[in-house]
Amino acid sequence: MKENRIGILTGGGDCAGINPAIKWIVKTALDDRLQRERMTRYTPVGIKDGWKGLIEVKPGAAGMEEYVMPLDQAVVRTWDRYGGSMLGTSRTNPYDPKNDQSRRVLANIEKLRLDALIAIGGDDTLGVAHRLDREGVPVVAIPKTIDKDLPETDYTLGFETAVSVITEEIDRLRTTAGSHKRIFVVETMGRHGGWLALEGGEASGAFIILIPEHDFSPDRVNELLVEGREEGARYEIIVVSEGAKPAGGTEFTRQEGVDAFGHKFLGGVGDSLAREIEASTGLETRSINLSHLQRGGAPCAYDRRMGRYFGIAAMELVAAGIFGKMVCVRNGRVTMCAIENAIGRARFVDVDTQYDVERYNGRRTILRLEEGKHEA
Ligand code: F6P
Repeated sequence: MKENRIGILTGGGDCAGINPAIKWIVKTALDDRLQRERMTRYTPVGIKDGWKGLIEVKPGAAGMEEYVMPLDQAVVRTWDRYGGSMLGTSRTNPYDPKNDQSRRVLANIEKLRLDALIAIGGDDTLGVAHRLDREGVPVVAIPKTIDKDLPETDYTLGFETAVSVITEEIDRLRTTAGSHKRIFVVETMGRHGGWLALEGGEASGAFIILIPEHDFSPDRVNELLVEGREEGARYEIIVVSEGAKPAGGTEFTRQEGVDAFGHKFLGGVGDSLAREIEASTGLETRSINLSHLQRGGAPCAYDRRMGRYFGIAAMELVAAGIFGKMVCVRNGRVTMCAIENAIGRARFVDVDTQYDVERYNGRRTILRLEEGKHEA
């Protein structure tokens, strides 16, 4: 039997669905039958706190367990029921031009005798994974981000749980909004892609949905609200993505500066819009930013299943010696793509087919049937 040590880490923002993926990597790696078939004894090793763990760890020294955690079936048995990352995460960038730590990462991978690395992350984490792959580290990636904006995959872990949170919170807001005849502006995450606002807004039946892919006119928002009241509505829910902006304006930020990967700290469009609506229409308006609540909580059934499938698929790639790939799902089928193709650009809502630019809402035509071209 060959011996093979597999490092597993999670990077970037946490979300529901990461722990199910880790559990199923470990279970697949340690499955007796698969080990016999693969003639390899696998040892899964959890790296804590993302790339930070691979920078800070001192292999062999006392205190090493701060960043390295042996994983077996007993350890991960219940992990699929929990949100966040049991391994911890960080937004550390080993290739930060101001403080390049990539040599330490490479040296530690060697000292920890890792034969493969499975990185669970979004664009930033996968960007690092790709650079390591180019430097000869055998890497496999699993996509996760509640924003669901990675290209090459129809799904990223965490999204459906976040949509459920948005829907549940809006259900709660409806009773207070209705009692007080108020408008509520609900800000969701979603830096580049409006998926959370759009699908969360659709699931919760929001009156108006605003997404980064289509700059909005505050006047049109006010017009729709006034029309709604004239038609007898007692209250309205507006869902706005953190990356949405008014036409001619810029994105709203909650704090100065950028993170280790150069991203602005977005936030505030909901508050600003609420103030603008109240000032222009005289209708009482409140705003709420769902913020990190969307990343929290136990994974929904779909994230547990997708975490499981992605975890198993990632381990299959490792066993087959296929590296530089990200597992992904397309048209309902779990498959793989080059990590390189999944980074450096976002996957956007298709405004033409998925968004109603008049009503600022989800589409009202789905099959897009053309008259006379289809059998009745
Ligand atoms: O993971 C992406 C994301 O969910 C963005 O939508 C959001 O802007 C960001 O995380 C905020 O993350 P944090 O506060 O953890 O840096």
